[in-house]
Amino acid sequence: MKFFIDTANLDQIKEAQALGILDGVTTNPSLMAKEGITGQDNILKHYVAICEAVDGDVSAEVISVDFEGMVKEGEALAALHPQIVVKIPMIKEGVKALKYFSSKGIKTNCTLIFSAGQALLAAKAGATYVSPFIGRLDDVSTDGLNLIQEIRLIYDNYAFDTEILAASVRHTMHIIDCAKIGADVMTGPLSAITGLLNHPLTDIGLAKFLADHKKGN
Ligand code: E4P
Repeated sequence: MKFFIDTANLDQIKEAQALGILDGVTTNPSLMAKEGITGQDNILKHYVAICEAVDGDVSAEVISVDFEGMVKEGEALAALHPQIVVKIPMIKEGVKALKYFSSKGIKTNCTLIFSAGQALLAAKAGATYVSPFIGRLDDVSTDGLNLIQEIRLIYDNYAFDTEILAASVRHTMHIIDCAKIGADVMTGPLSAITGLLNHPLTDIGLAKFLADHKKGN
């Protein structure tokens, strides 16, 4: 399973990259605003800085909600850096844009996926990635992992190339469960990724090994 980090914070991106396990980055307009990145020039510069900090795909989201606008914005984003993946919302105009970018060989990430039907449409339109938001489904008492399972089944039935990018991951168990189901990618915060490191028996065991080594020397 590929690991993407879901942030626009350069320090966190660099920390995950330094771990050696990072495969890419996802951003969205809210994450950019959270870092105080505003104004088109600054936003574009920040995408380039993220691309230069990681090896792998970097999702950059369009703001337009009409086909022509999405195409114009997406082409400008894709021209910024070869690692850019154009992030397109799951709306009717977005499906047309996915098809357009797919025909041009430009990578896409179809975002705001909350149903298996939406994921099926995105795959038929040639999306590179689909992003089902599992945490936001859990937030409204709907099993987000069940959606990952449904999409996995559908994509396997028809051998779709579209990769399932489990998004809105909130904690370590989301990552482990997505890996069990067979999501191709997960994107989550640094805390969920580094949370995988932790086990009290590891800490106890290491402390004992070091103490025993000290006794013997
Ligand atoms: C995915 O690409 C989104 O940026 C993200 O995972 C949304 O997560 P949230 O529900 O924690 O905001």
